[in-house]
Amino acid sequence: NHGPTSGTTGAAAPAGYLAPNGPEVAAAEARRNPGPERKVALTATETTLDLGGRTVRSWAYGDRLPGQEVRATLGDTLAVTLANHLPQPTTLHWHGLALRNDMDGVPGVTQADVRPGASFEYRFALAHPGTYWFHPHSGVQQDRGLYAPLIVEDPREPLAYDKEWVVVLDDWVDGVDGSTPDAVLAELARGMGGMDHSGGSGHDMAGMTGMPGHDMAGMTGTGSAPGGTPNAAGPSRMLMGAQSPLLGGDAGDVAYPFHLVNGRLATAPETFAAKPGDRIRIRLVNAGGDTAYRVALGGHELTVTHTDGFPVEPATAQALLLGMGERYDVLVTAKDGAFPLTALAEGKNATALAVLRTGGGGAAPDAAVRPAELDGRLVTAGQLRAAPDVRLPAKAPDRTVRLELTGGMAKADWAFNGRRYDPAQRYPVAAGERVRLEFRNSTAMWHPVHLHGHSFALPGDGPRKDTAVVLPGTTLAVDFDADNPGLWMVHCHNVYHAETGMMTVLGYR
Ligand code: C2O
Ligand code: CU
Repeated sequence: NHGPTSGTTGAAAPAGYLAPNGPEVAAAEARRNPGPERKVALTATETTLDLGGRTVRSWAYGDRLPGQEVRATLGDTLAVTLANHLPQPTTLHWHGLALRNDMDGVPGVTQADVRPGASFEYRFALAHPGTYWFHPHSGVQQDRGLYAPLIVEDPREPLAYDKEWVVVLDDWVDGVDGSTPDAVLAELARGMGGMDHSGGSGHDMAGMTGMPGHDMAGMTGTGSAPGGTPNAAGPSRMLMGAQSPLLGGDAGDVAYPFHLVNGRLATAPETFAAKPGDRIRIRLVNAGGDTAYRVALGGHELTVTHTDGFPVEPATAQALLLGMGERYDVLVTAKDGAFPLTALAEGKNATALAVLRTGGGGAAPDAAVRPAELDGRLVTAGQLRAAPDVRLPAKAPDRTVRLELTGGMAKADWAFNGRRYDPAQRYPVAAGERVRLEFRNSTAMWHPVHLHGHSFALPGDGPRKDTAVVLPGTTLAVDFDADNPGLWMVHCHNVYHAETGMMTVLGYR
């Protein structure tokens, strides 16, 4: 029973590809040994959210931002009923999970839209422990506040820790000045032609962050009241990103007035309480639509233990970089005092904040103070190695799928191989193959590329991931075993790039 709206995928499927709800998909699910049911009810609804002294009208799961975390145990069958109280069709996508294809939540590919007023039951086995999240796969709805963490616990968890803190990062535009992500998308899709940006390289745009009409006060963390002067509405609200020292090129194409940790502004941050000496597992999730965050915890080193849910050989870092959709788990041993967990919006001169407090000592961290660790030793995914038991065994690829990342901000013509997303087009793969995905970035911007339904390995015994940043002018080759039949999306996790065309489908034959 897949709920009232199941029965059609909505898109004309080319012949020769496995269906999302075919017998191969059911057989793959049976091999996961679906266990006890974990039932969850979710309502996607229009609501008023308090970001900490600033209320906005937006869309969310329930009345909270992020939505209520879903927590389950490895082997459980997750049974989530989604009620759609939005004025638009929606779906739920389970980011990072290797799940049955017909539950992957891609409208027109793996399921029909869940229409306004309708509901749909998602039901699938949880085959891997780790830190995941969920969001709609419908337009740019995710960027309105429809997201929440999904934690799959491992009953044989080898890590020892006292406390756990789930930290979700987000850039925020919705309801601030009457605008919405859809309006931003429409403006981007109309193109940036009216703006003086010299052919879209964007490198001359750094100075724009100081232009009139771009009031950055709320973004610089210098202590001004959030929302005191919302950005001017209209085209001037968009800007090419400033250059990021880490990412090069353009760091972003939408000017976000706010940056949030767990739905809170830096002026009213969430405080996480612990005791000095506690070992804290921090699960970091970047749910932003268009922002990479550099994250550090003042006064502490981070021991990286997982990337996108999968264990790595532990590595110490002072700062981490998370592209949109990426997750990192870290361990810290809490010191005595109050410490800022700061997320710097790369290239945007803005920060988001949460606070770790132990005991009574220490003044509250000032949102304007950036911990020195932010500029300390930065660890990126390419420097990590997978833990031995999740390493992808060495094997020559049976097939290489070459995807050139193309397009630019000027025309918002983001695409793979120069072709904008067409739900009827597929890149074929076959069950049992070792597949290499080769992403060649010919654009001036970095892109976090994401594969559904699988985790890939970065080169050289690199970490297992489902989302990885491809820097401008570079090629990233990742490998995965084609062991989960169906139709699976590959796309940039900048929601505006995906929605304007940088998205395609891998189809099992
Ligand atoms: Cu978060 Cu298609 O993904
Ligand atoms: Cu992109």
